[in-house]
Amino acid sequence: MERSTFIRSLTLATSIVGISLLHYFTPLHLPYLHAIFQRLYYLPIILAALWFGLRGGLSCALVVSIVYAPHILFQWGGALTMEMEKYLEILLYNIVGGVTGLLSQRERERTVELQKTARGLEESFQKLQHQSERIIIIEEQLRRAEKLSTLGEMAAVLAHEIRNPLGSIRGTAEILKDDYKPGDPKHEFIEIQIRETERLNRVVEDFLHMARPQPTQMTPCSIQEELETIATLIANDAKARHISFVLHPPPAPVIIRADGEKLRQAFLNIIINALQATPPGGSLTVSTTLRQREDSAPVCEISFSDTGSGIDAETLKRVFEPFYTTKEGGTGLGLVVTKKIIEGHGGRLLIESDHGRGTTVTVSLPMLEGGKQ
Ligand SMILES: Nc1ncnc2c1ncn2[C@@H]1O[C@H](COP(=O)(O)OP(=O)(O)OP(=O)(O)O)[C@@H](O)[C@H]1O
Ligand SMILES: [Mg+2]
Repeated sequence: MERSTFIRSLTLATSIVGISLLHYFTPLHLPYLHAIFQRLYYLPIILAALWFGLRGGLSCALVVSIVYAPHILFQWGGALTMEMEKYLEILLYNIVGGVTGLLSQRERERTVELQKTARGLEESFQKLQHQSERIIIIEEQLRRAEKLSTLGEMAAVLAHEIRNPLGSIRGTAEILKDDYKPGDPKHEFIEIQIRETERLNRVVEDFLHMARPQPTQMTPCSIQEELETIATLIANDAKARHISFVLHPPPAPVIIRADGEKLRQAFLNIIINALQATPPGGSLTVSTTLRQREDSAPVCEISFSDTGSGIDAETLKRVFEPFYTTKEGGTGLGLVVTKKIIEGHGGRLLIESDHGRGTTVTVSLPMLEGGKQ
């Protein structure tokens, strides 16, 4: 029982007992005093109705009736008109208790309803505010992305234009080279010129290759094999950082339709983040589980759990924003690219983090019908 309920109940009980004692111990030849005491009973009845609603009002009226009735019956017994008036008063106690209780209960329900509506309105307002803030942020990102994509296109055109004169420079250098014998310092200078031109050409080629969007090549691929390839790739890095890397195999072979290279890139981004966040002596555990929900296709969940620094709530809200990084020298694009790749495979990416204890990144990917092949 709550403390306030207890105090209220005690107040009611004390006042009923007090008024009843006054009735029982006041001589009957003082009827005007009895008339006053009789009306005093309304106080606890109305209070009970206000505090405890219909049930409280009625219960209190009933208790008063039971306590008061013997007094009428045994002490007043005989004077029928007097008795009748007092019995009527008992009836009134119950009516007053019931009606007041009912009204106060309705009022209370209405207040609760109003409070609920107010809370709902407050929540809607907060959501609206949150959404409008997000719209502003997204708008800003779009503007930035637009600028970047224009810059990227310009850079690609520039790289393309550099390639042609490079070809001419290399060609003329080859011709000039023939004029000098090997061993001649000029012959060597021209060789350096050719080598550097080739290097420049390779840089430009690589840049163009990177700038061109690569088509996705969906083929059946084994999740475990992809993870094992990455494990080999990062083994040295993990060892140098004194982090133990554990790869648990799935319960059954998991084959999904995917672009293996892109998937590896996504997994690698997640693993590199985990290694960067985990101090020496920590661990990174990767495990794959299968889930089959009744209403959807089978899904495989790959979880990457590290014992690193974790992510605080504010940062967690922003990790998927392009260029958001907490690292010196970070680009803040790792998770953006990763999310895009996973969603491009019809999957989902979830990050849960316990600040100071570690982070778990879960990738869910839809499997081929039947789960294996
Ligand atoms: N496992 C992790 N533990 C702690 N923080 C993490 C983890 N993974 C991501 N983060 C946080 O999310 C931010 C964004 O990560 P994201 O991979 O997108 O960019 P980045 O790692 O900072 O830079 P890069 O583009 O070089 O990957 C990080 O700067 C880091 O604060
Ligand atoms: Mg990263």
